[in-house]
Amino acid sequence: MATSSSRSCLQYLLHLAQDNVDFRLPEIKALLALSGKPFHPCESFKEKSPFWCLNGLSEEDVRGIMARSVCAKSAFELWGHGQTHTELRTSLLNYPSENMSPFMHKDSTYRINVYTFNKTLAFADRIKRIDAMEYLPFKGTVSLKSPQHIFCLLEDYGTDPNNIPEHPDYIYFGRWIADGQRELIRSHSVKNRHFIGNTSMDAGLSFIMANHAKVKENDLVFDPFVGTGSLLVACSHFGAYVCGTDIDYNTIHGKGRSSRKNQKWRGPDENIRANLRQYGTEKMYVDVMVSDASKSVWKEAALFDAIITDPPYGIRESTRRTGSHKDITKPPDESHVPVSQAYHLSDIFTDLLNFSAHHLVMGGRLVYWLPVYRPETVC
Ligand SMILES: C[S@@+](CC[C@H](N)C(=O)[O-])C[C@H]1O[C@@H](n2cnc3c(N)ncnc32)[C@H](O)[C@@H]1O
Repeated sequence: MATSSSRSCLQYLLHLAQDNVDFRLPEIKALLALSGKPFHPCESFKEKSPFWCLNGLSEEDVRGIMARSVCAKSAFELWGHGQTHTELRTSLLNYPSENMSPFMHKDSTYRINVYTFNKTLAFADRIKRIDAMEYLPFKGTVSLKSPQHIFCLLEDYGTDPNNIPEHPDYIYFGRWIADGQRELIRSHSVKNRHFIGNTSMDAGLSFIMANHAKVKENDLVFDPFVGTGSLLVACSHFGAYVCGTDIDYNTIHGKGRSSRKNQKWRGPDENIRANLRQYGTEKMYVDVMVSDASKSVWKEAALFDAIITDPPYGIRESTRRTGSHKDITKPPDESHVPVSQAYHLSDIFTDLLNFSAHHLVMGGRLVYWLPVYRPETVC
């Protein structure tokens, strides 16, 4: 059997999910950067395409990306590609046999899958596609249930569901390497989370943010607007120690009104620590405390490897900060002095950037949501 060093010029194909399209490139680049690898796409690279072909990586690098990526569905070692099945055949027949042979010998078992993007193929058509690949020198035995090697024919019918071409725009064939972490979106869904609030961050987006922040094992991550701790849940999953602050006493102490439809008050154990416990990462919990992000309580030092947060936008969550008598210009006839005052969006982000500049370690990342107004997308 050939060793991996005798297999050369390998290209890898990523199949990406078509949601959060703008977040995919920074996610994959951040994950590659975590292992010190460059992002080298093929010449035909199109960012919005569900298929990306990458150069200059090893199978181990690709497995590393897939062990973290929420944007990528699957990865393949690319054996051939083309605009038509004839081009694919030529490409496959030119693929070095020493790259193929370790996975095709007579004692091996295998299966070929057919995947179509933006088109559904009838079962009979799938079988026809597989039968047509008989030119490949498979010597092993087909095993549908538990094959040693899985191969995939992937047909791309473009991204316009209202204009599906008869023939695919592009076709790929490769050996399946690994699936991404899309399952985390379901397993960590806020729907089944122990402690939630009105603005709990979606699980998939939380994991993507943790990836953008390059959060890794034993990092210390801080969320200054922690809410119910969805971002801490994601970071702790990747092995980071997590802490946070929030101005809201009830949120930090898991008290007050429940955000669940059929429940009036929060239960005794509804808090961020319990959320981490639910996912088996309680040991990564450092602490959370009540604190106003506009008034830092931290010592002047580079404390955090990443700051990752979802500040209040004033739409679903009010933007408040603590105030005192001296902050308020009180009209002479008014006796009541509010304990909080408006915290303007521009101040929130200025404070966050200043705080991060002072408290992130060198090379540490700040990842946050910034509300933008795009009149062209308003219906
Ligand atoms: C959009 S929510 C964060 C949601 C959180 N990511 C989660 O998954 O639950 C914003 C949070 O900022 C908190 N907040 C508002 N003003 C604050 C301030 N001045 N300092 C700290 N936290 C504040 C709110 O209480 C709220 O919990």
